[in-house]
Amino acid sequence: MSENGNPPVPDPQLLEGAKAAFKQAYVPYSRFRVGAALRTPDGRVFLGANVENASYGLGRCAEQSAVQAMATAGARKFTDLVVYSEATPPASPCGGCRQILFEFSPEARVVCVNHHGEVVSGLVRDFLPHGFRLEQRDDGHGVGTK
Ligand code: THU
Repeated sequence: MSENGNPPVPDPQLLEGAKAAFKQAYVPYSRFRVGAALRTPDGRVFLGANVENASYGLGRCAEQSAVQAMATAGARKFTDLVVYSEATPPASPCGGCRQILFEFSPEARVVCVNHHGEVVSGLVRDFLPHGFRLEQRDDGHGVGTK
């Protein structure tokens, strides 16, 4: 999913943040850590880790945690996201997270990277073609992302 077959090197600040979040992951069930770091257009960085639960379905992915932190701080857009895992190939956002990322920033760049430096990257809209938007409705009741 990279452009020109040349995947971008992850932004160093976001990689550092994603690795820090990775260390905080709460994963007693899967033992699969994921860390995420995103940057808003004004330069703020928000982190997220996956946080699991004994009621398995209530677990939260790292990407969703980062978006929650961003939105809670009042930000509504991000330009770059780094997802760090120690998996091969690097963990790529799940389907639900793709929709959550798409809600705020379909044009943002996503760089998934692992401990070997392997990268899978693309724009959010590349990861989720034809993502759902309520604005698509034709009855005049579309809602925005304010
Ligand atoms: N997970 C993430 O946090 N992000 C991903 O991109 C893929 C999966 C989490 C969910 C769960 O805690 C664990 O990884 C195993 O599925």
